[in-house]
Amino acid sequence: MSDERYLTFALGKGRLANKTLELLEQIGITCEEMKDKDSRKLIFVNEELKLRFFLAKGPDVPTYVEYGAADIGVVGSDTIMEENRRVYEVLDLGFGKCRMCVCGPESARELLQHHEMIRVASKYPNIAKDYFHNKKHQTVDIIKLNGSVELGPIVGLSDVIVDIVETGSTLRENGLQVLEEICPLSARMIVNQVSMQMETERIRSLIGKLKELC
Ligand code: PRP
Repeated sequence: MSDERYLTFALGKGRLANKTLELLEQIGITCEEMKDKDSRKLIFVNEELKLRFFLAKGPDVPTYVEYGAADIGVVGSDTIMEENRRVYEVLDLGFGKCRMCVCGPESARELLQHHEMIRVASKYPNIAKDYFHNKKHQTVDIIKLNGSVELGPIVGLSDVIVDIVETGSTLRENGLQVLEEICPLSARMIVNQVSMQMETERIRSLIGKLKELC
């Protein structure tokens, strides 16, 4: 075991990372250092299992994995679609379930049916572009926002938004609704393409154990 190299995991900060750690714990992979919520440390090591973990902003996880700075990443399928990096998507982890939707006030429903030129605000401009241009064949003006996207139609920046809906409470509390569903989403495991060849056994065994739980 001692001559093994470290396998490095990039985890999307927040809920997904916590859920991932719970799942890894169930297959005997722990990282005590990471449980200290007050720590500002960014990288954690399990010397015994030769594993390293780091926390990154969700959209950066596929970047670290594509360039091989991390062998394995865990991130939402929304981010994988949006970033479109060259990585292998190997497992649906079954948590972080939500939906990518077109949302807006009820009055905007009509605008979606008549292929009108509309404004769409989103944190996910590539997903929005693919949906409207390639699937619906509707010409739209896409406006990139970085959060609190629901503000778009409320303050008159856009007609609709493309965003994640989980419980639906953000929409309800802001007088908006789901107008069209684009696709279901969940947390996925991604793997660097070279690591998959070089560390096939270790990575396959990890995927196999996780599959039994998911
Ligand atoms: C996400 C998403 C919605 C909300 C949906 O935002 O962009 O705003 O969660 O969840 P709900 O259906 O359970 O209400 P997030 O909390 O990630 O923050 P953001 O607005 O800064 O993107």
